Amino acid sequence: MGGSSRGEFSSSFGFIMAAAGSAIGLGNIWGFPTQTAQNGGAAFVLLYLILAFVVGYPILLAEFTIGRHSQSNPVGAYQSIKGGKRFAPVGFLGITTVGFILSFYSIIAGTMMAYFLNPILKLVGLHQAAAWVISQGVSSNILFASLFFFITVLIVAAGVKNGIEKWSTRLMPTLLLILILLTIYVLTLDGAMEGLKVYLLPDFTKVFHTQLFTSALGQAFFSLSLGVGSMLVLASYTSKKENLVRLGRLVTLSDVGIAFLAGLLIIPAMYAASASGAEIFDEAGNLISGPNLIFQVLPALFDTMGPIGIGLAIIFFFLMVIAALTSTISMLEVPVSYAVDNRGMDRTKASILIGGIFWIVSMVIALNFDLLFDFVVATTTEFIQPLLGLFICVFVGWVMNRNTLIEEIKQGNPDVENSFFMKIWPLFIRYVSPILILIILAQAFL
Ligand code: TRP
Repeated sequence: MGGSSRGEFSSSFGFIMAAAGSAIGLGNIWGFPTQTAQNGGAAFVLLYLILAFVVGYPILLAEFTIGRHSQSNPVGAYQSIKGGKRFAPVGFLGITTVGFILSFYSIIAGTMMAYFLNPILKLVGLHQAAAWVISQGVSSNILFASLFFFITVLIVAAGVKNGIEKWSTRLMPTLLLILILLTIYVLTLDGAMEGLKVYLLPDFTKVFHTQLFTSALGQAFFSLSLGVGSMLVLASYTSKKENLVRLGRLVTLSDVGIAFLAGLLIIPAMYAASASGAEIFDEAGNLISGPNLIFQVLPALFDTMGPIGIGLAIIFFFLMVIAALTSTISMLEVPVSYAVDNRGMDRTKASILIGGIFWIVSMVIALNFDLLFDFVVATTTEFIQPLLGLFICVFVGWVMNRNTLIEEIKQGNPDVENSFFMKIWPLFIRYVSPILILIILAQAFL
């Protein structure tokens, strides 16, 4: 299992783009603003930021370290590290969970694709088709989720350098640019400033609402792609010359930064839409939220803008498709790397077979959307991901040999031993992060 035969990133930039591409996705641009609207605005933003740095970043670094050290997938990684055999089931749970995440994620990603096609179809005069693609009925969901699976399988089958790296390095910078331009534009609209206040000024009466903690923790795990092995696998393809501490920091900052930026776009956009007549509050006077928030508010906003709006709609939803694609790639890569490393399967075969299995799961969810969708989202992201994170803390903080760990982090970062970071990271991974996860999981059940 030499590094080169498994595939490797050709550059540091390639790895950062792939890891940031995994982290940045619908979780940031669709999930984060939706959760913020649902949980009372700025209080949620604050809590999410704290949890991303205090729980997310330490675990991200743990995953990077195990991944690069073992140069393997989650199951292979635990199997190859001393004391890790008992943790192999944790690897398996990760591989399965990420498949279920891919299954629901592709449905939303497919809807983004539909909203990207909608204005184009209208422009060419196909009005009926335009209405059908965004109907979010069973058949359109099936079509677009399947299309998304198909593209993801193609890229993963192409391998690390020619698939993941090539696409992430092109797509991620484009995304950032579009997002910034769109946000600047939205902030100049009437009504946007009111939205900005809701977004930035916390209402502390909402902070002690228990669901808030579970949601913010789930959001931090989801957004940073933690627990299931996405980050572990990506790091397994990176070279020993890289400074993992620095890369982890960059990925966390860019993920949190993009989520924050997306909120800066969406929440003021909601208020701007309201200023031009769209309905953004429910009967109880709360901001509307839920999975359809973006699909209700943004097209309404774009519609009020005439021809510019059509262009913006196309650009925005194109951006969403890109963001989703760099994330779905890193999801499918987890089980595929297991099949390739541990089962000796051919990469193309593994991508098609595993993609096919979870495509079926996705179709089952699409056919029973009302029954299954929310349930699968909540179980995988608010419960299993934090639980897997807890196991990672236990393994890295308490089971894994300390010297092995430090030696691995030192590669590409020789002075790390005396740094401030190395004084506090072990404390976080042993105590602070796992205890916080336990408390939040426990209060969700009580
Ligand atoms: N983090 C991505 C987002 O915010 C989604 C994602 C990619 C993910 N890989 C993952 C979520 C693994 C959970 C687990 O959209």
